[in-house]
Amino acid sequence: MFLKESWYVFGWERDLDQAGGILGRVIIGEPVVIWRTAGGELRAMADRCPHRHAPLSRGRVEGDSIRCMYHGMTLGSDGRCTGMPLLDEPPDAGVRVYPVVAKDSWLWVWMGNPENADESFIPDAFGIDDPAQPMRASSIEYQANFQLVHDNLCDLSHVDFVHSGTLRVASGAWWSQSAPRIHAQGRALRFERWFIDADYPGKPGEKVDTWISYDFVLPGIFILRGARYPAGTAAAFEGKEPVGIEPLVRNIEQQAVTPMTERTTAYHYATGLVGSTPEMTARLAERMDVVMAAFEEDRQMIEAQQKIWDLTPPETAMVFLPQDRGPFQMRRMLRKAIENQG
Ligand code: FES
Ligand SMILES: [Fe+2]
Repeated sequence: MFLKESWYVFGWERDLDQAGGILGRVIIGEPVVIWRTAGGELRAMADRCPHRHAPLSRGRVEGDSIRCMYHGMTLGSDGRCTGMPLLDEPPDAGVRVYPVVAKDSWLWVWMGNPENADESFIPDAFGIDDPAQPMRASSIEYQANFQLVHDNLCDLSHVDFVHSGTLRVASGAWWSQSAPRIHAQGRALRFERWFIDADYPGKPGEKVDTWISYDFVLPGIFILRGARYPAGTAAAFEGKEPVGIEPLVRNIEQQAVTPMTERTTAYHYATGLVGSTPEMTARLAERMDVVMAAFEEDRQMIEAQQKIWDLTPPETAMVFLPQDRGPFQMRRMLRKAIENQG
């Protein structure tokens, strides 16, 4: 079951450029092609030729049209057939078009009723093209249901175990030994926490207080801000968010979970350190190596978990623990949003 009335991240805008301006992907079970007209305008439509259902993403752009490269049908940017070899008049045929927007380096597609496609629903992310805030980005695919990926992001206590040699060490923190505060805000959950007297990676023996705040926004957008402060800062702010002081270093994370099918999920992620000194650039390359290794660890665990879920009778109980508050609240928020879309 998917939320349809939502913007979804199709992928990085650069993916489309690298694919030559026409790219097909599956989102919530629907094949979608995004392409740019000869004039550079973005278009999204069903990736299924009305003739014999070949993918239009294997076609080519001709001006404001797309030509299916199986038998040559052309479709205009409104999705209507504009021509077919052998026929004097185009047949009465066409495909669905989807609202599409480029924002913060991502391509967003609205999968519900186009009349409801309000761009203000798109959550703010960082974008990967800001020179003041360089980020490294990539994408992976999970052979697993998207909700298992949501669960993973809404309960980061797993960092100490799944990522014991990667993110656990790189963060300098112990994630399973304290719980975040969680607030629901509209279509998002906000998670906030301090790690007091955490290690300062790269500075052996030094301690810092690390502030982490992240939003997990429907349908699966994860935006994290982290900042390290001198030890004692958490106490000075009585455990609240620090304001008015500059941290020693900041990091940012931008991630999107996009269901492809019930058993496959795309994951588009970027990581950054705020600042663009040569030292930062070198550290960012190291950080991306750690992040990529960590997401491979997540993928292996989640895909293994999916195999066990598939073998588990639905009446088999799971133990509900405090760690499950985030995943539980996110599942409930998604269920309500699906119910409300009618
Ligand atoms: S399948 Fe596209 S023209 Fe035949
Ligand atoms: Fe993880």
